[in-house]
Amino acid sequence: MGPLAPAIRLALLAGLAAPGAPSSDGLALTPPMGWNSWNAFHCEVNESVVRAAADAVVASGMRDAGYHYVVVDDCWQGERDGEGRLQPDRERFPSGMKALADFVHAKGLSFGLYSGAGELSCASRPGSRGHEAVDARTWAEWGVDYVKYDWCHTEGMDPRDAYGRMSQALRATGRPIVFSICEWGASRPWTWAAGVGHLWRATRDIQPCWDCGTEWGGTGIMHILDSAAELHAFAGPGHWNDLDMLEVGHAGLSAGESRAHFSLWALLASPLMAGNDLAAMTPATRDVLLNREVIAVSQDPLGVAGWKLLDGGHDEVWARPLADGSRAVVLLNRGTDTMAVRCRVEDLGFAPGQKVVLRDLWKHAEVPLEFGFVEGKVKPHDVVMLRVTAVD
Ligand code: GLA
Repeated sequence: MGPLAPAIRLALLAGLAAPGAPSSDGLALTPPMGWNSWNAFHCEVNESVVRAAADAVVASGMRDAGYHYVVVDDCWQGERDGEGRLQPDRERFPSGMKALADFVHAKGLSFGLYSGAGELSCASRPGSRGHEAVDARTWAEWGVDYVKYDWCHTEGMDPRDAYGRMSQALRATGRPIVFSICEWGASRPWTWAAGVGHLWRATRDIQPCWDCGTEWGGTGIMHILDSAAELHAFAGPGHWNDLDMLEVGHAGLSAGESRAHFSLWALLASPLMAGNDLAAMTPATRDVLLNREVIAVSQDPLGVAGWKLLDGGHDEVWARPLADGSRAVVLLNRGTDTMAVRCRVEDLGFAPGQKVVLRDLWKHAEVPLEFGFVEGKVKPHDVVMLRVTAVD
C-alpha cells in the first residue's frame, strides 16, 4: 500500500456511507456504551453491587452521556430447575434476575447478562450448550436487553455454529437483544460475525496496564491496540470490533494512560463499557469517562472506525472521519520522553492548503495549527486528541 493510501481512504470514507453491511435489526448502530461487572468485581458480583452500579450510572451523569447497558458478567448463574431453566445463584441474587432487570429499567437503563457457548462458563458456572432456546426465552422473560456470550469449555465446537445457534434463539424471542460475541478473536469473527452478533471481542482479556502480559493471556492496552490495528474496515453500524471492557479507574494505569485508553477505544469505535466500581470512582476517573467530546467521536453516526495513519516508532497518529466531514485524530506517545507528534493536514485526507481549525478534546479548547502541522506535545504514555475541521 502506498504512503498516500491512508489519506485517500480518509477522504473517501468521509464522503461515503459507513462501510459493511448495515445492521438488519437497528440495534447497536453506534458502539454500545455501559458498564460491565467483570473487571472490577470478577466473581464477587451480587445484586447490591449491580444496583449500586446502576444508581451510580445515573448519579454520575453517565446515563445522560450515553452509558446505557448495565451488564452482569460471569458468576450470576446458579443451577437449572426441573424444566431446564437456568436460575440465578440465590445467595448472590436473592431477588432474582427479573427484579434486577426491573430495577435497572426503572432507572432508564438497559440490562445485560453473561453466558457461554460451552457446558460451563469461564468461571465454571452452567453454560448454555444444549439449552440455547430455553435460555434465550428465559432471558427475554426477565427483560434482558444485551447478552455477552463467552467461549470457554467449547473444545471441538465450531464458533460459527454455536454463535449462530444462540443468535437465532435470541431473535426467535422477538425481543430486541444486543448479542455480544466473546471468543477472543480466535476464529477471526470479524470475517463471519456481522449479522450474527452486534459486536465481537477481537482480542484476549484486557488487563489494567499499558503493555503487560500474563501467563494466561491477559494483556495490556497497547497490545490490544496492536492486535486490532488492522480490523477497522470490518466495523460499522450494528457490527463492531470489541477491544474489551475499559480499565479506566483501575490501579495500574496512570492518568495519561487512562486518557490514552479511552481516546483510542473511542477512535477505534470499540464499545465503551466501563469496568470500574462506579459507586467509588474518583473525580479524575469520572472526568475521563464523561468526556463528552471524546464520546461524540465514539458515537459518531458515520460509524467508521479509526486506524493508524502514521507510525514513527514511539509516536503514532490514529484518525477517523466523522459524519460532519471533520476528522478525529489521536496523537499517541508510546515512548518515555515528551515529544511532538504530528501529521500534515493532507495526511488527514484534506486538500493541500485546506484551512482547518483544531479542537483539543481533552483541553476543551481550540488550539493553533503549528506551521501547517496538526501537532501536539504529548507526554509519555499519553495522547493529545483533536478534532480537525475544514473552514473556508
Ligand atoms: C472470559 C472473558 C472475560 C470474562 C470472563 C468471565 O475470560 O473474556 O471478559 O467474561 O471470561 O469468566
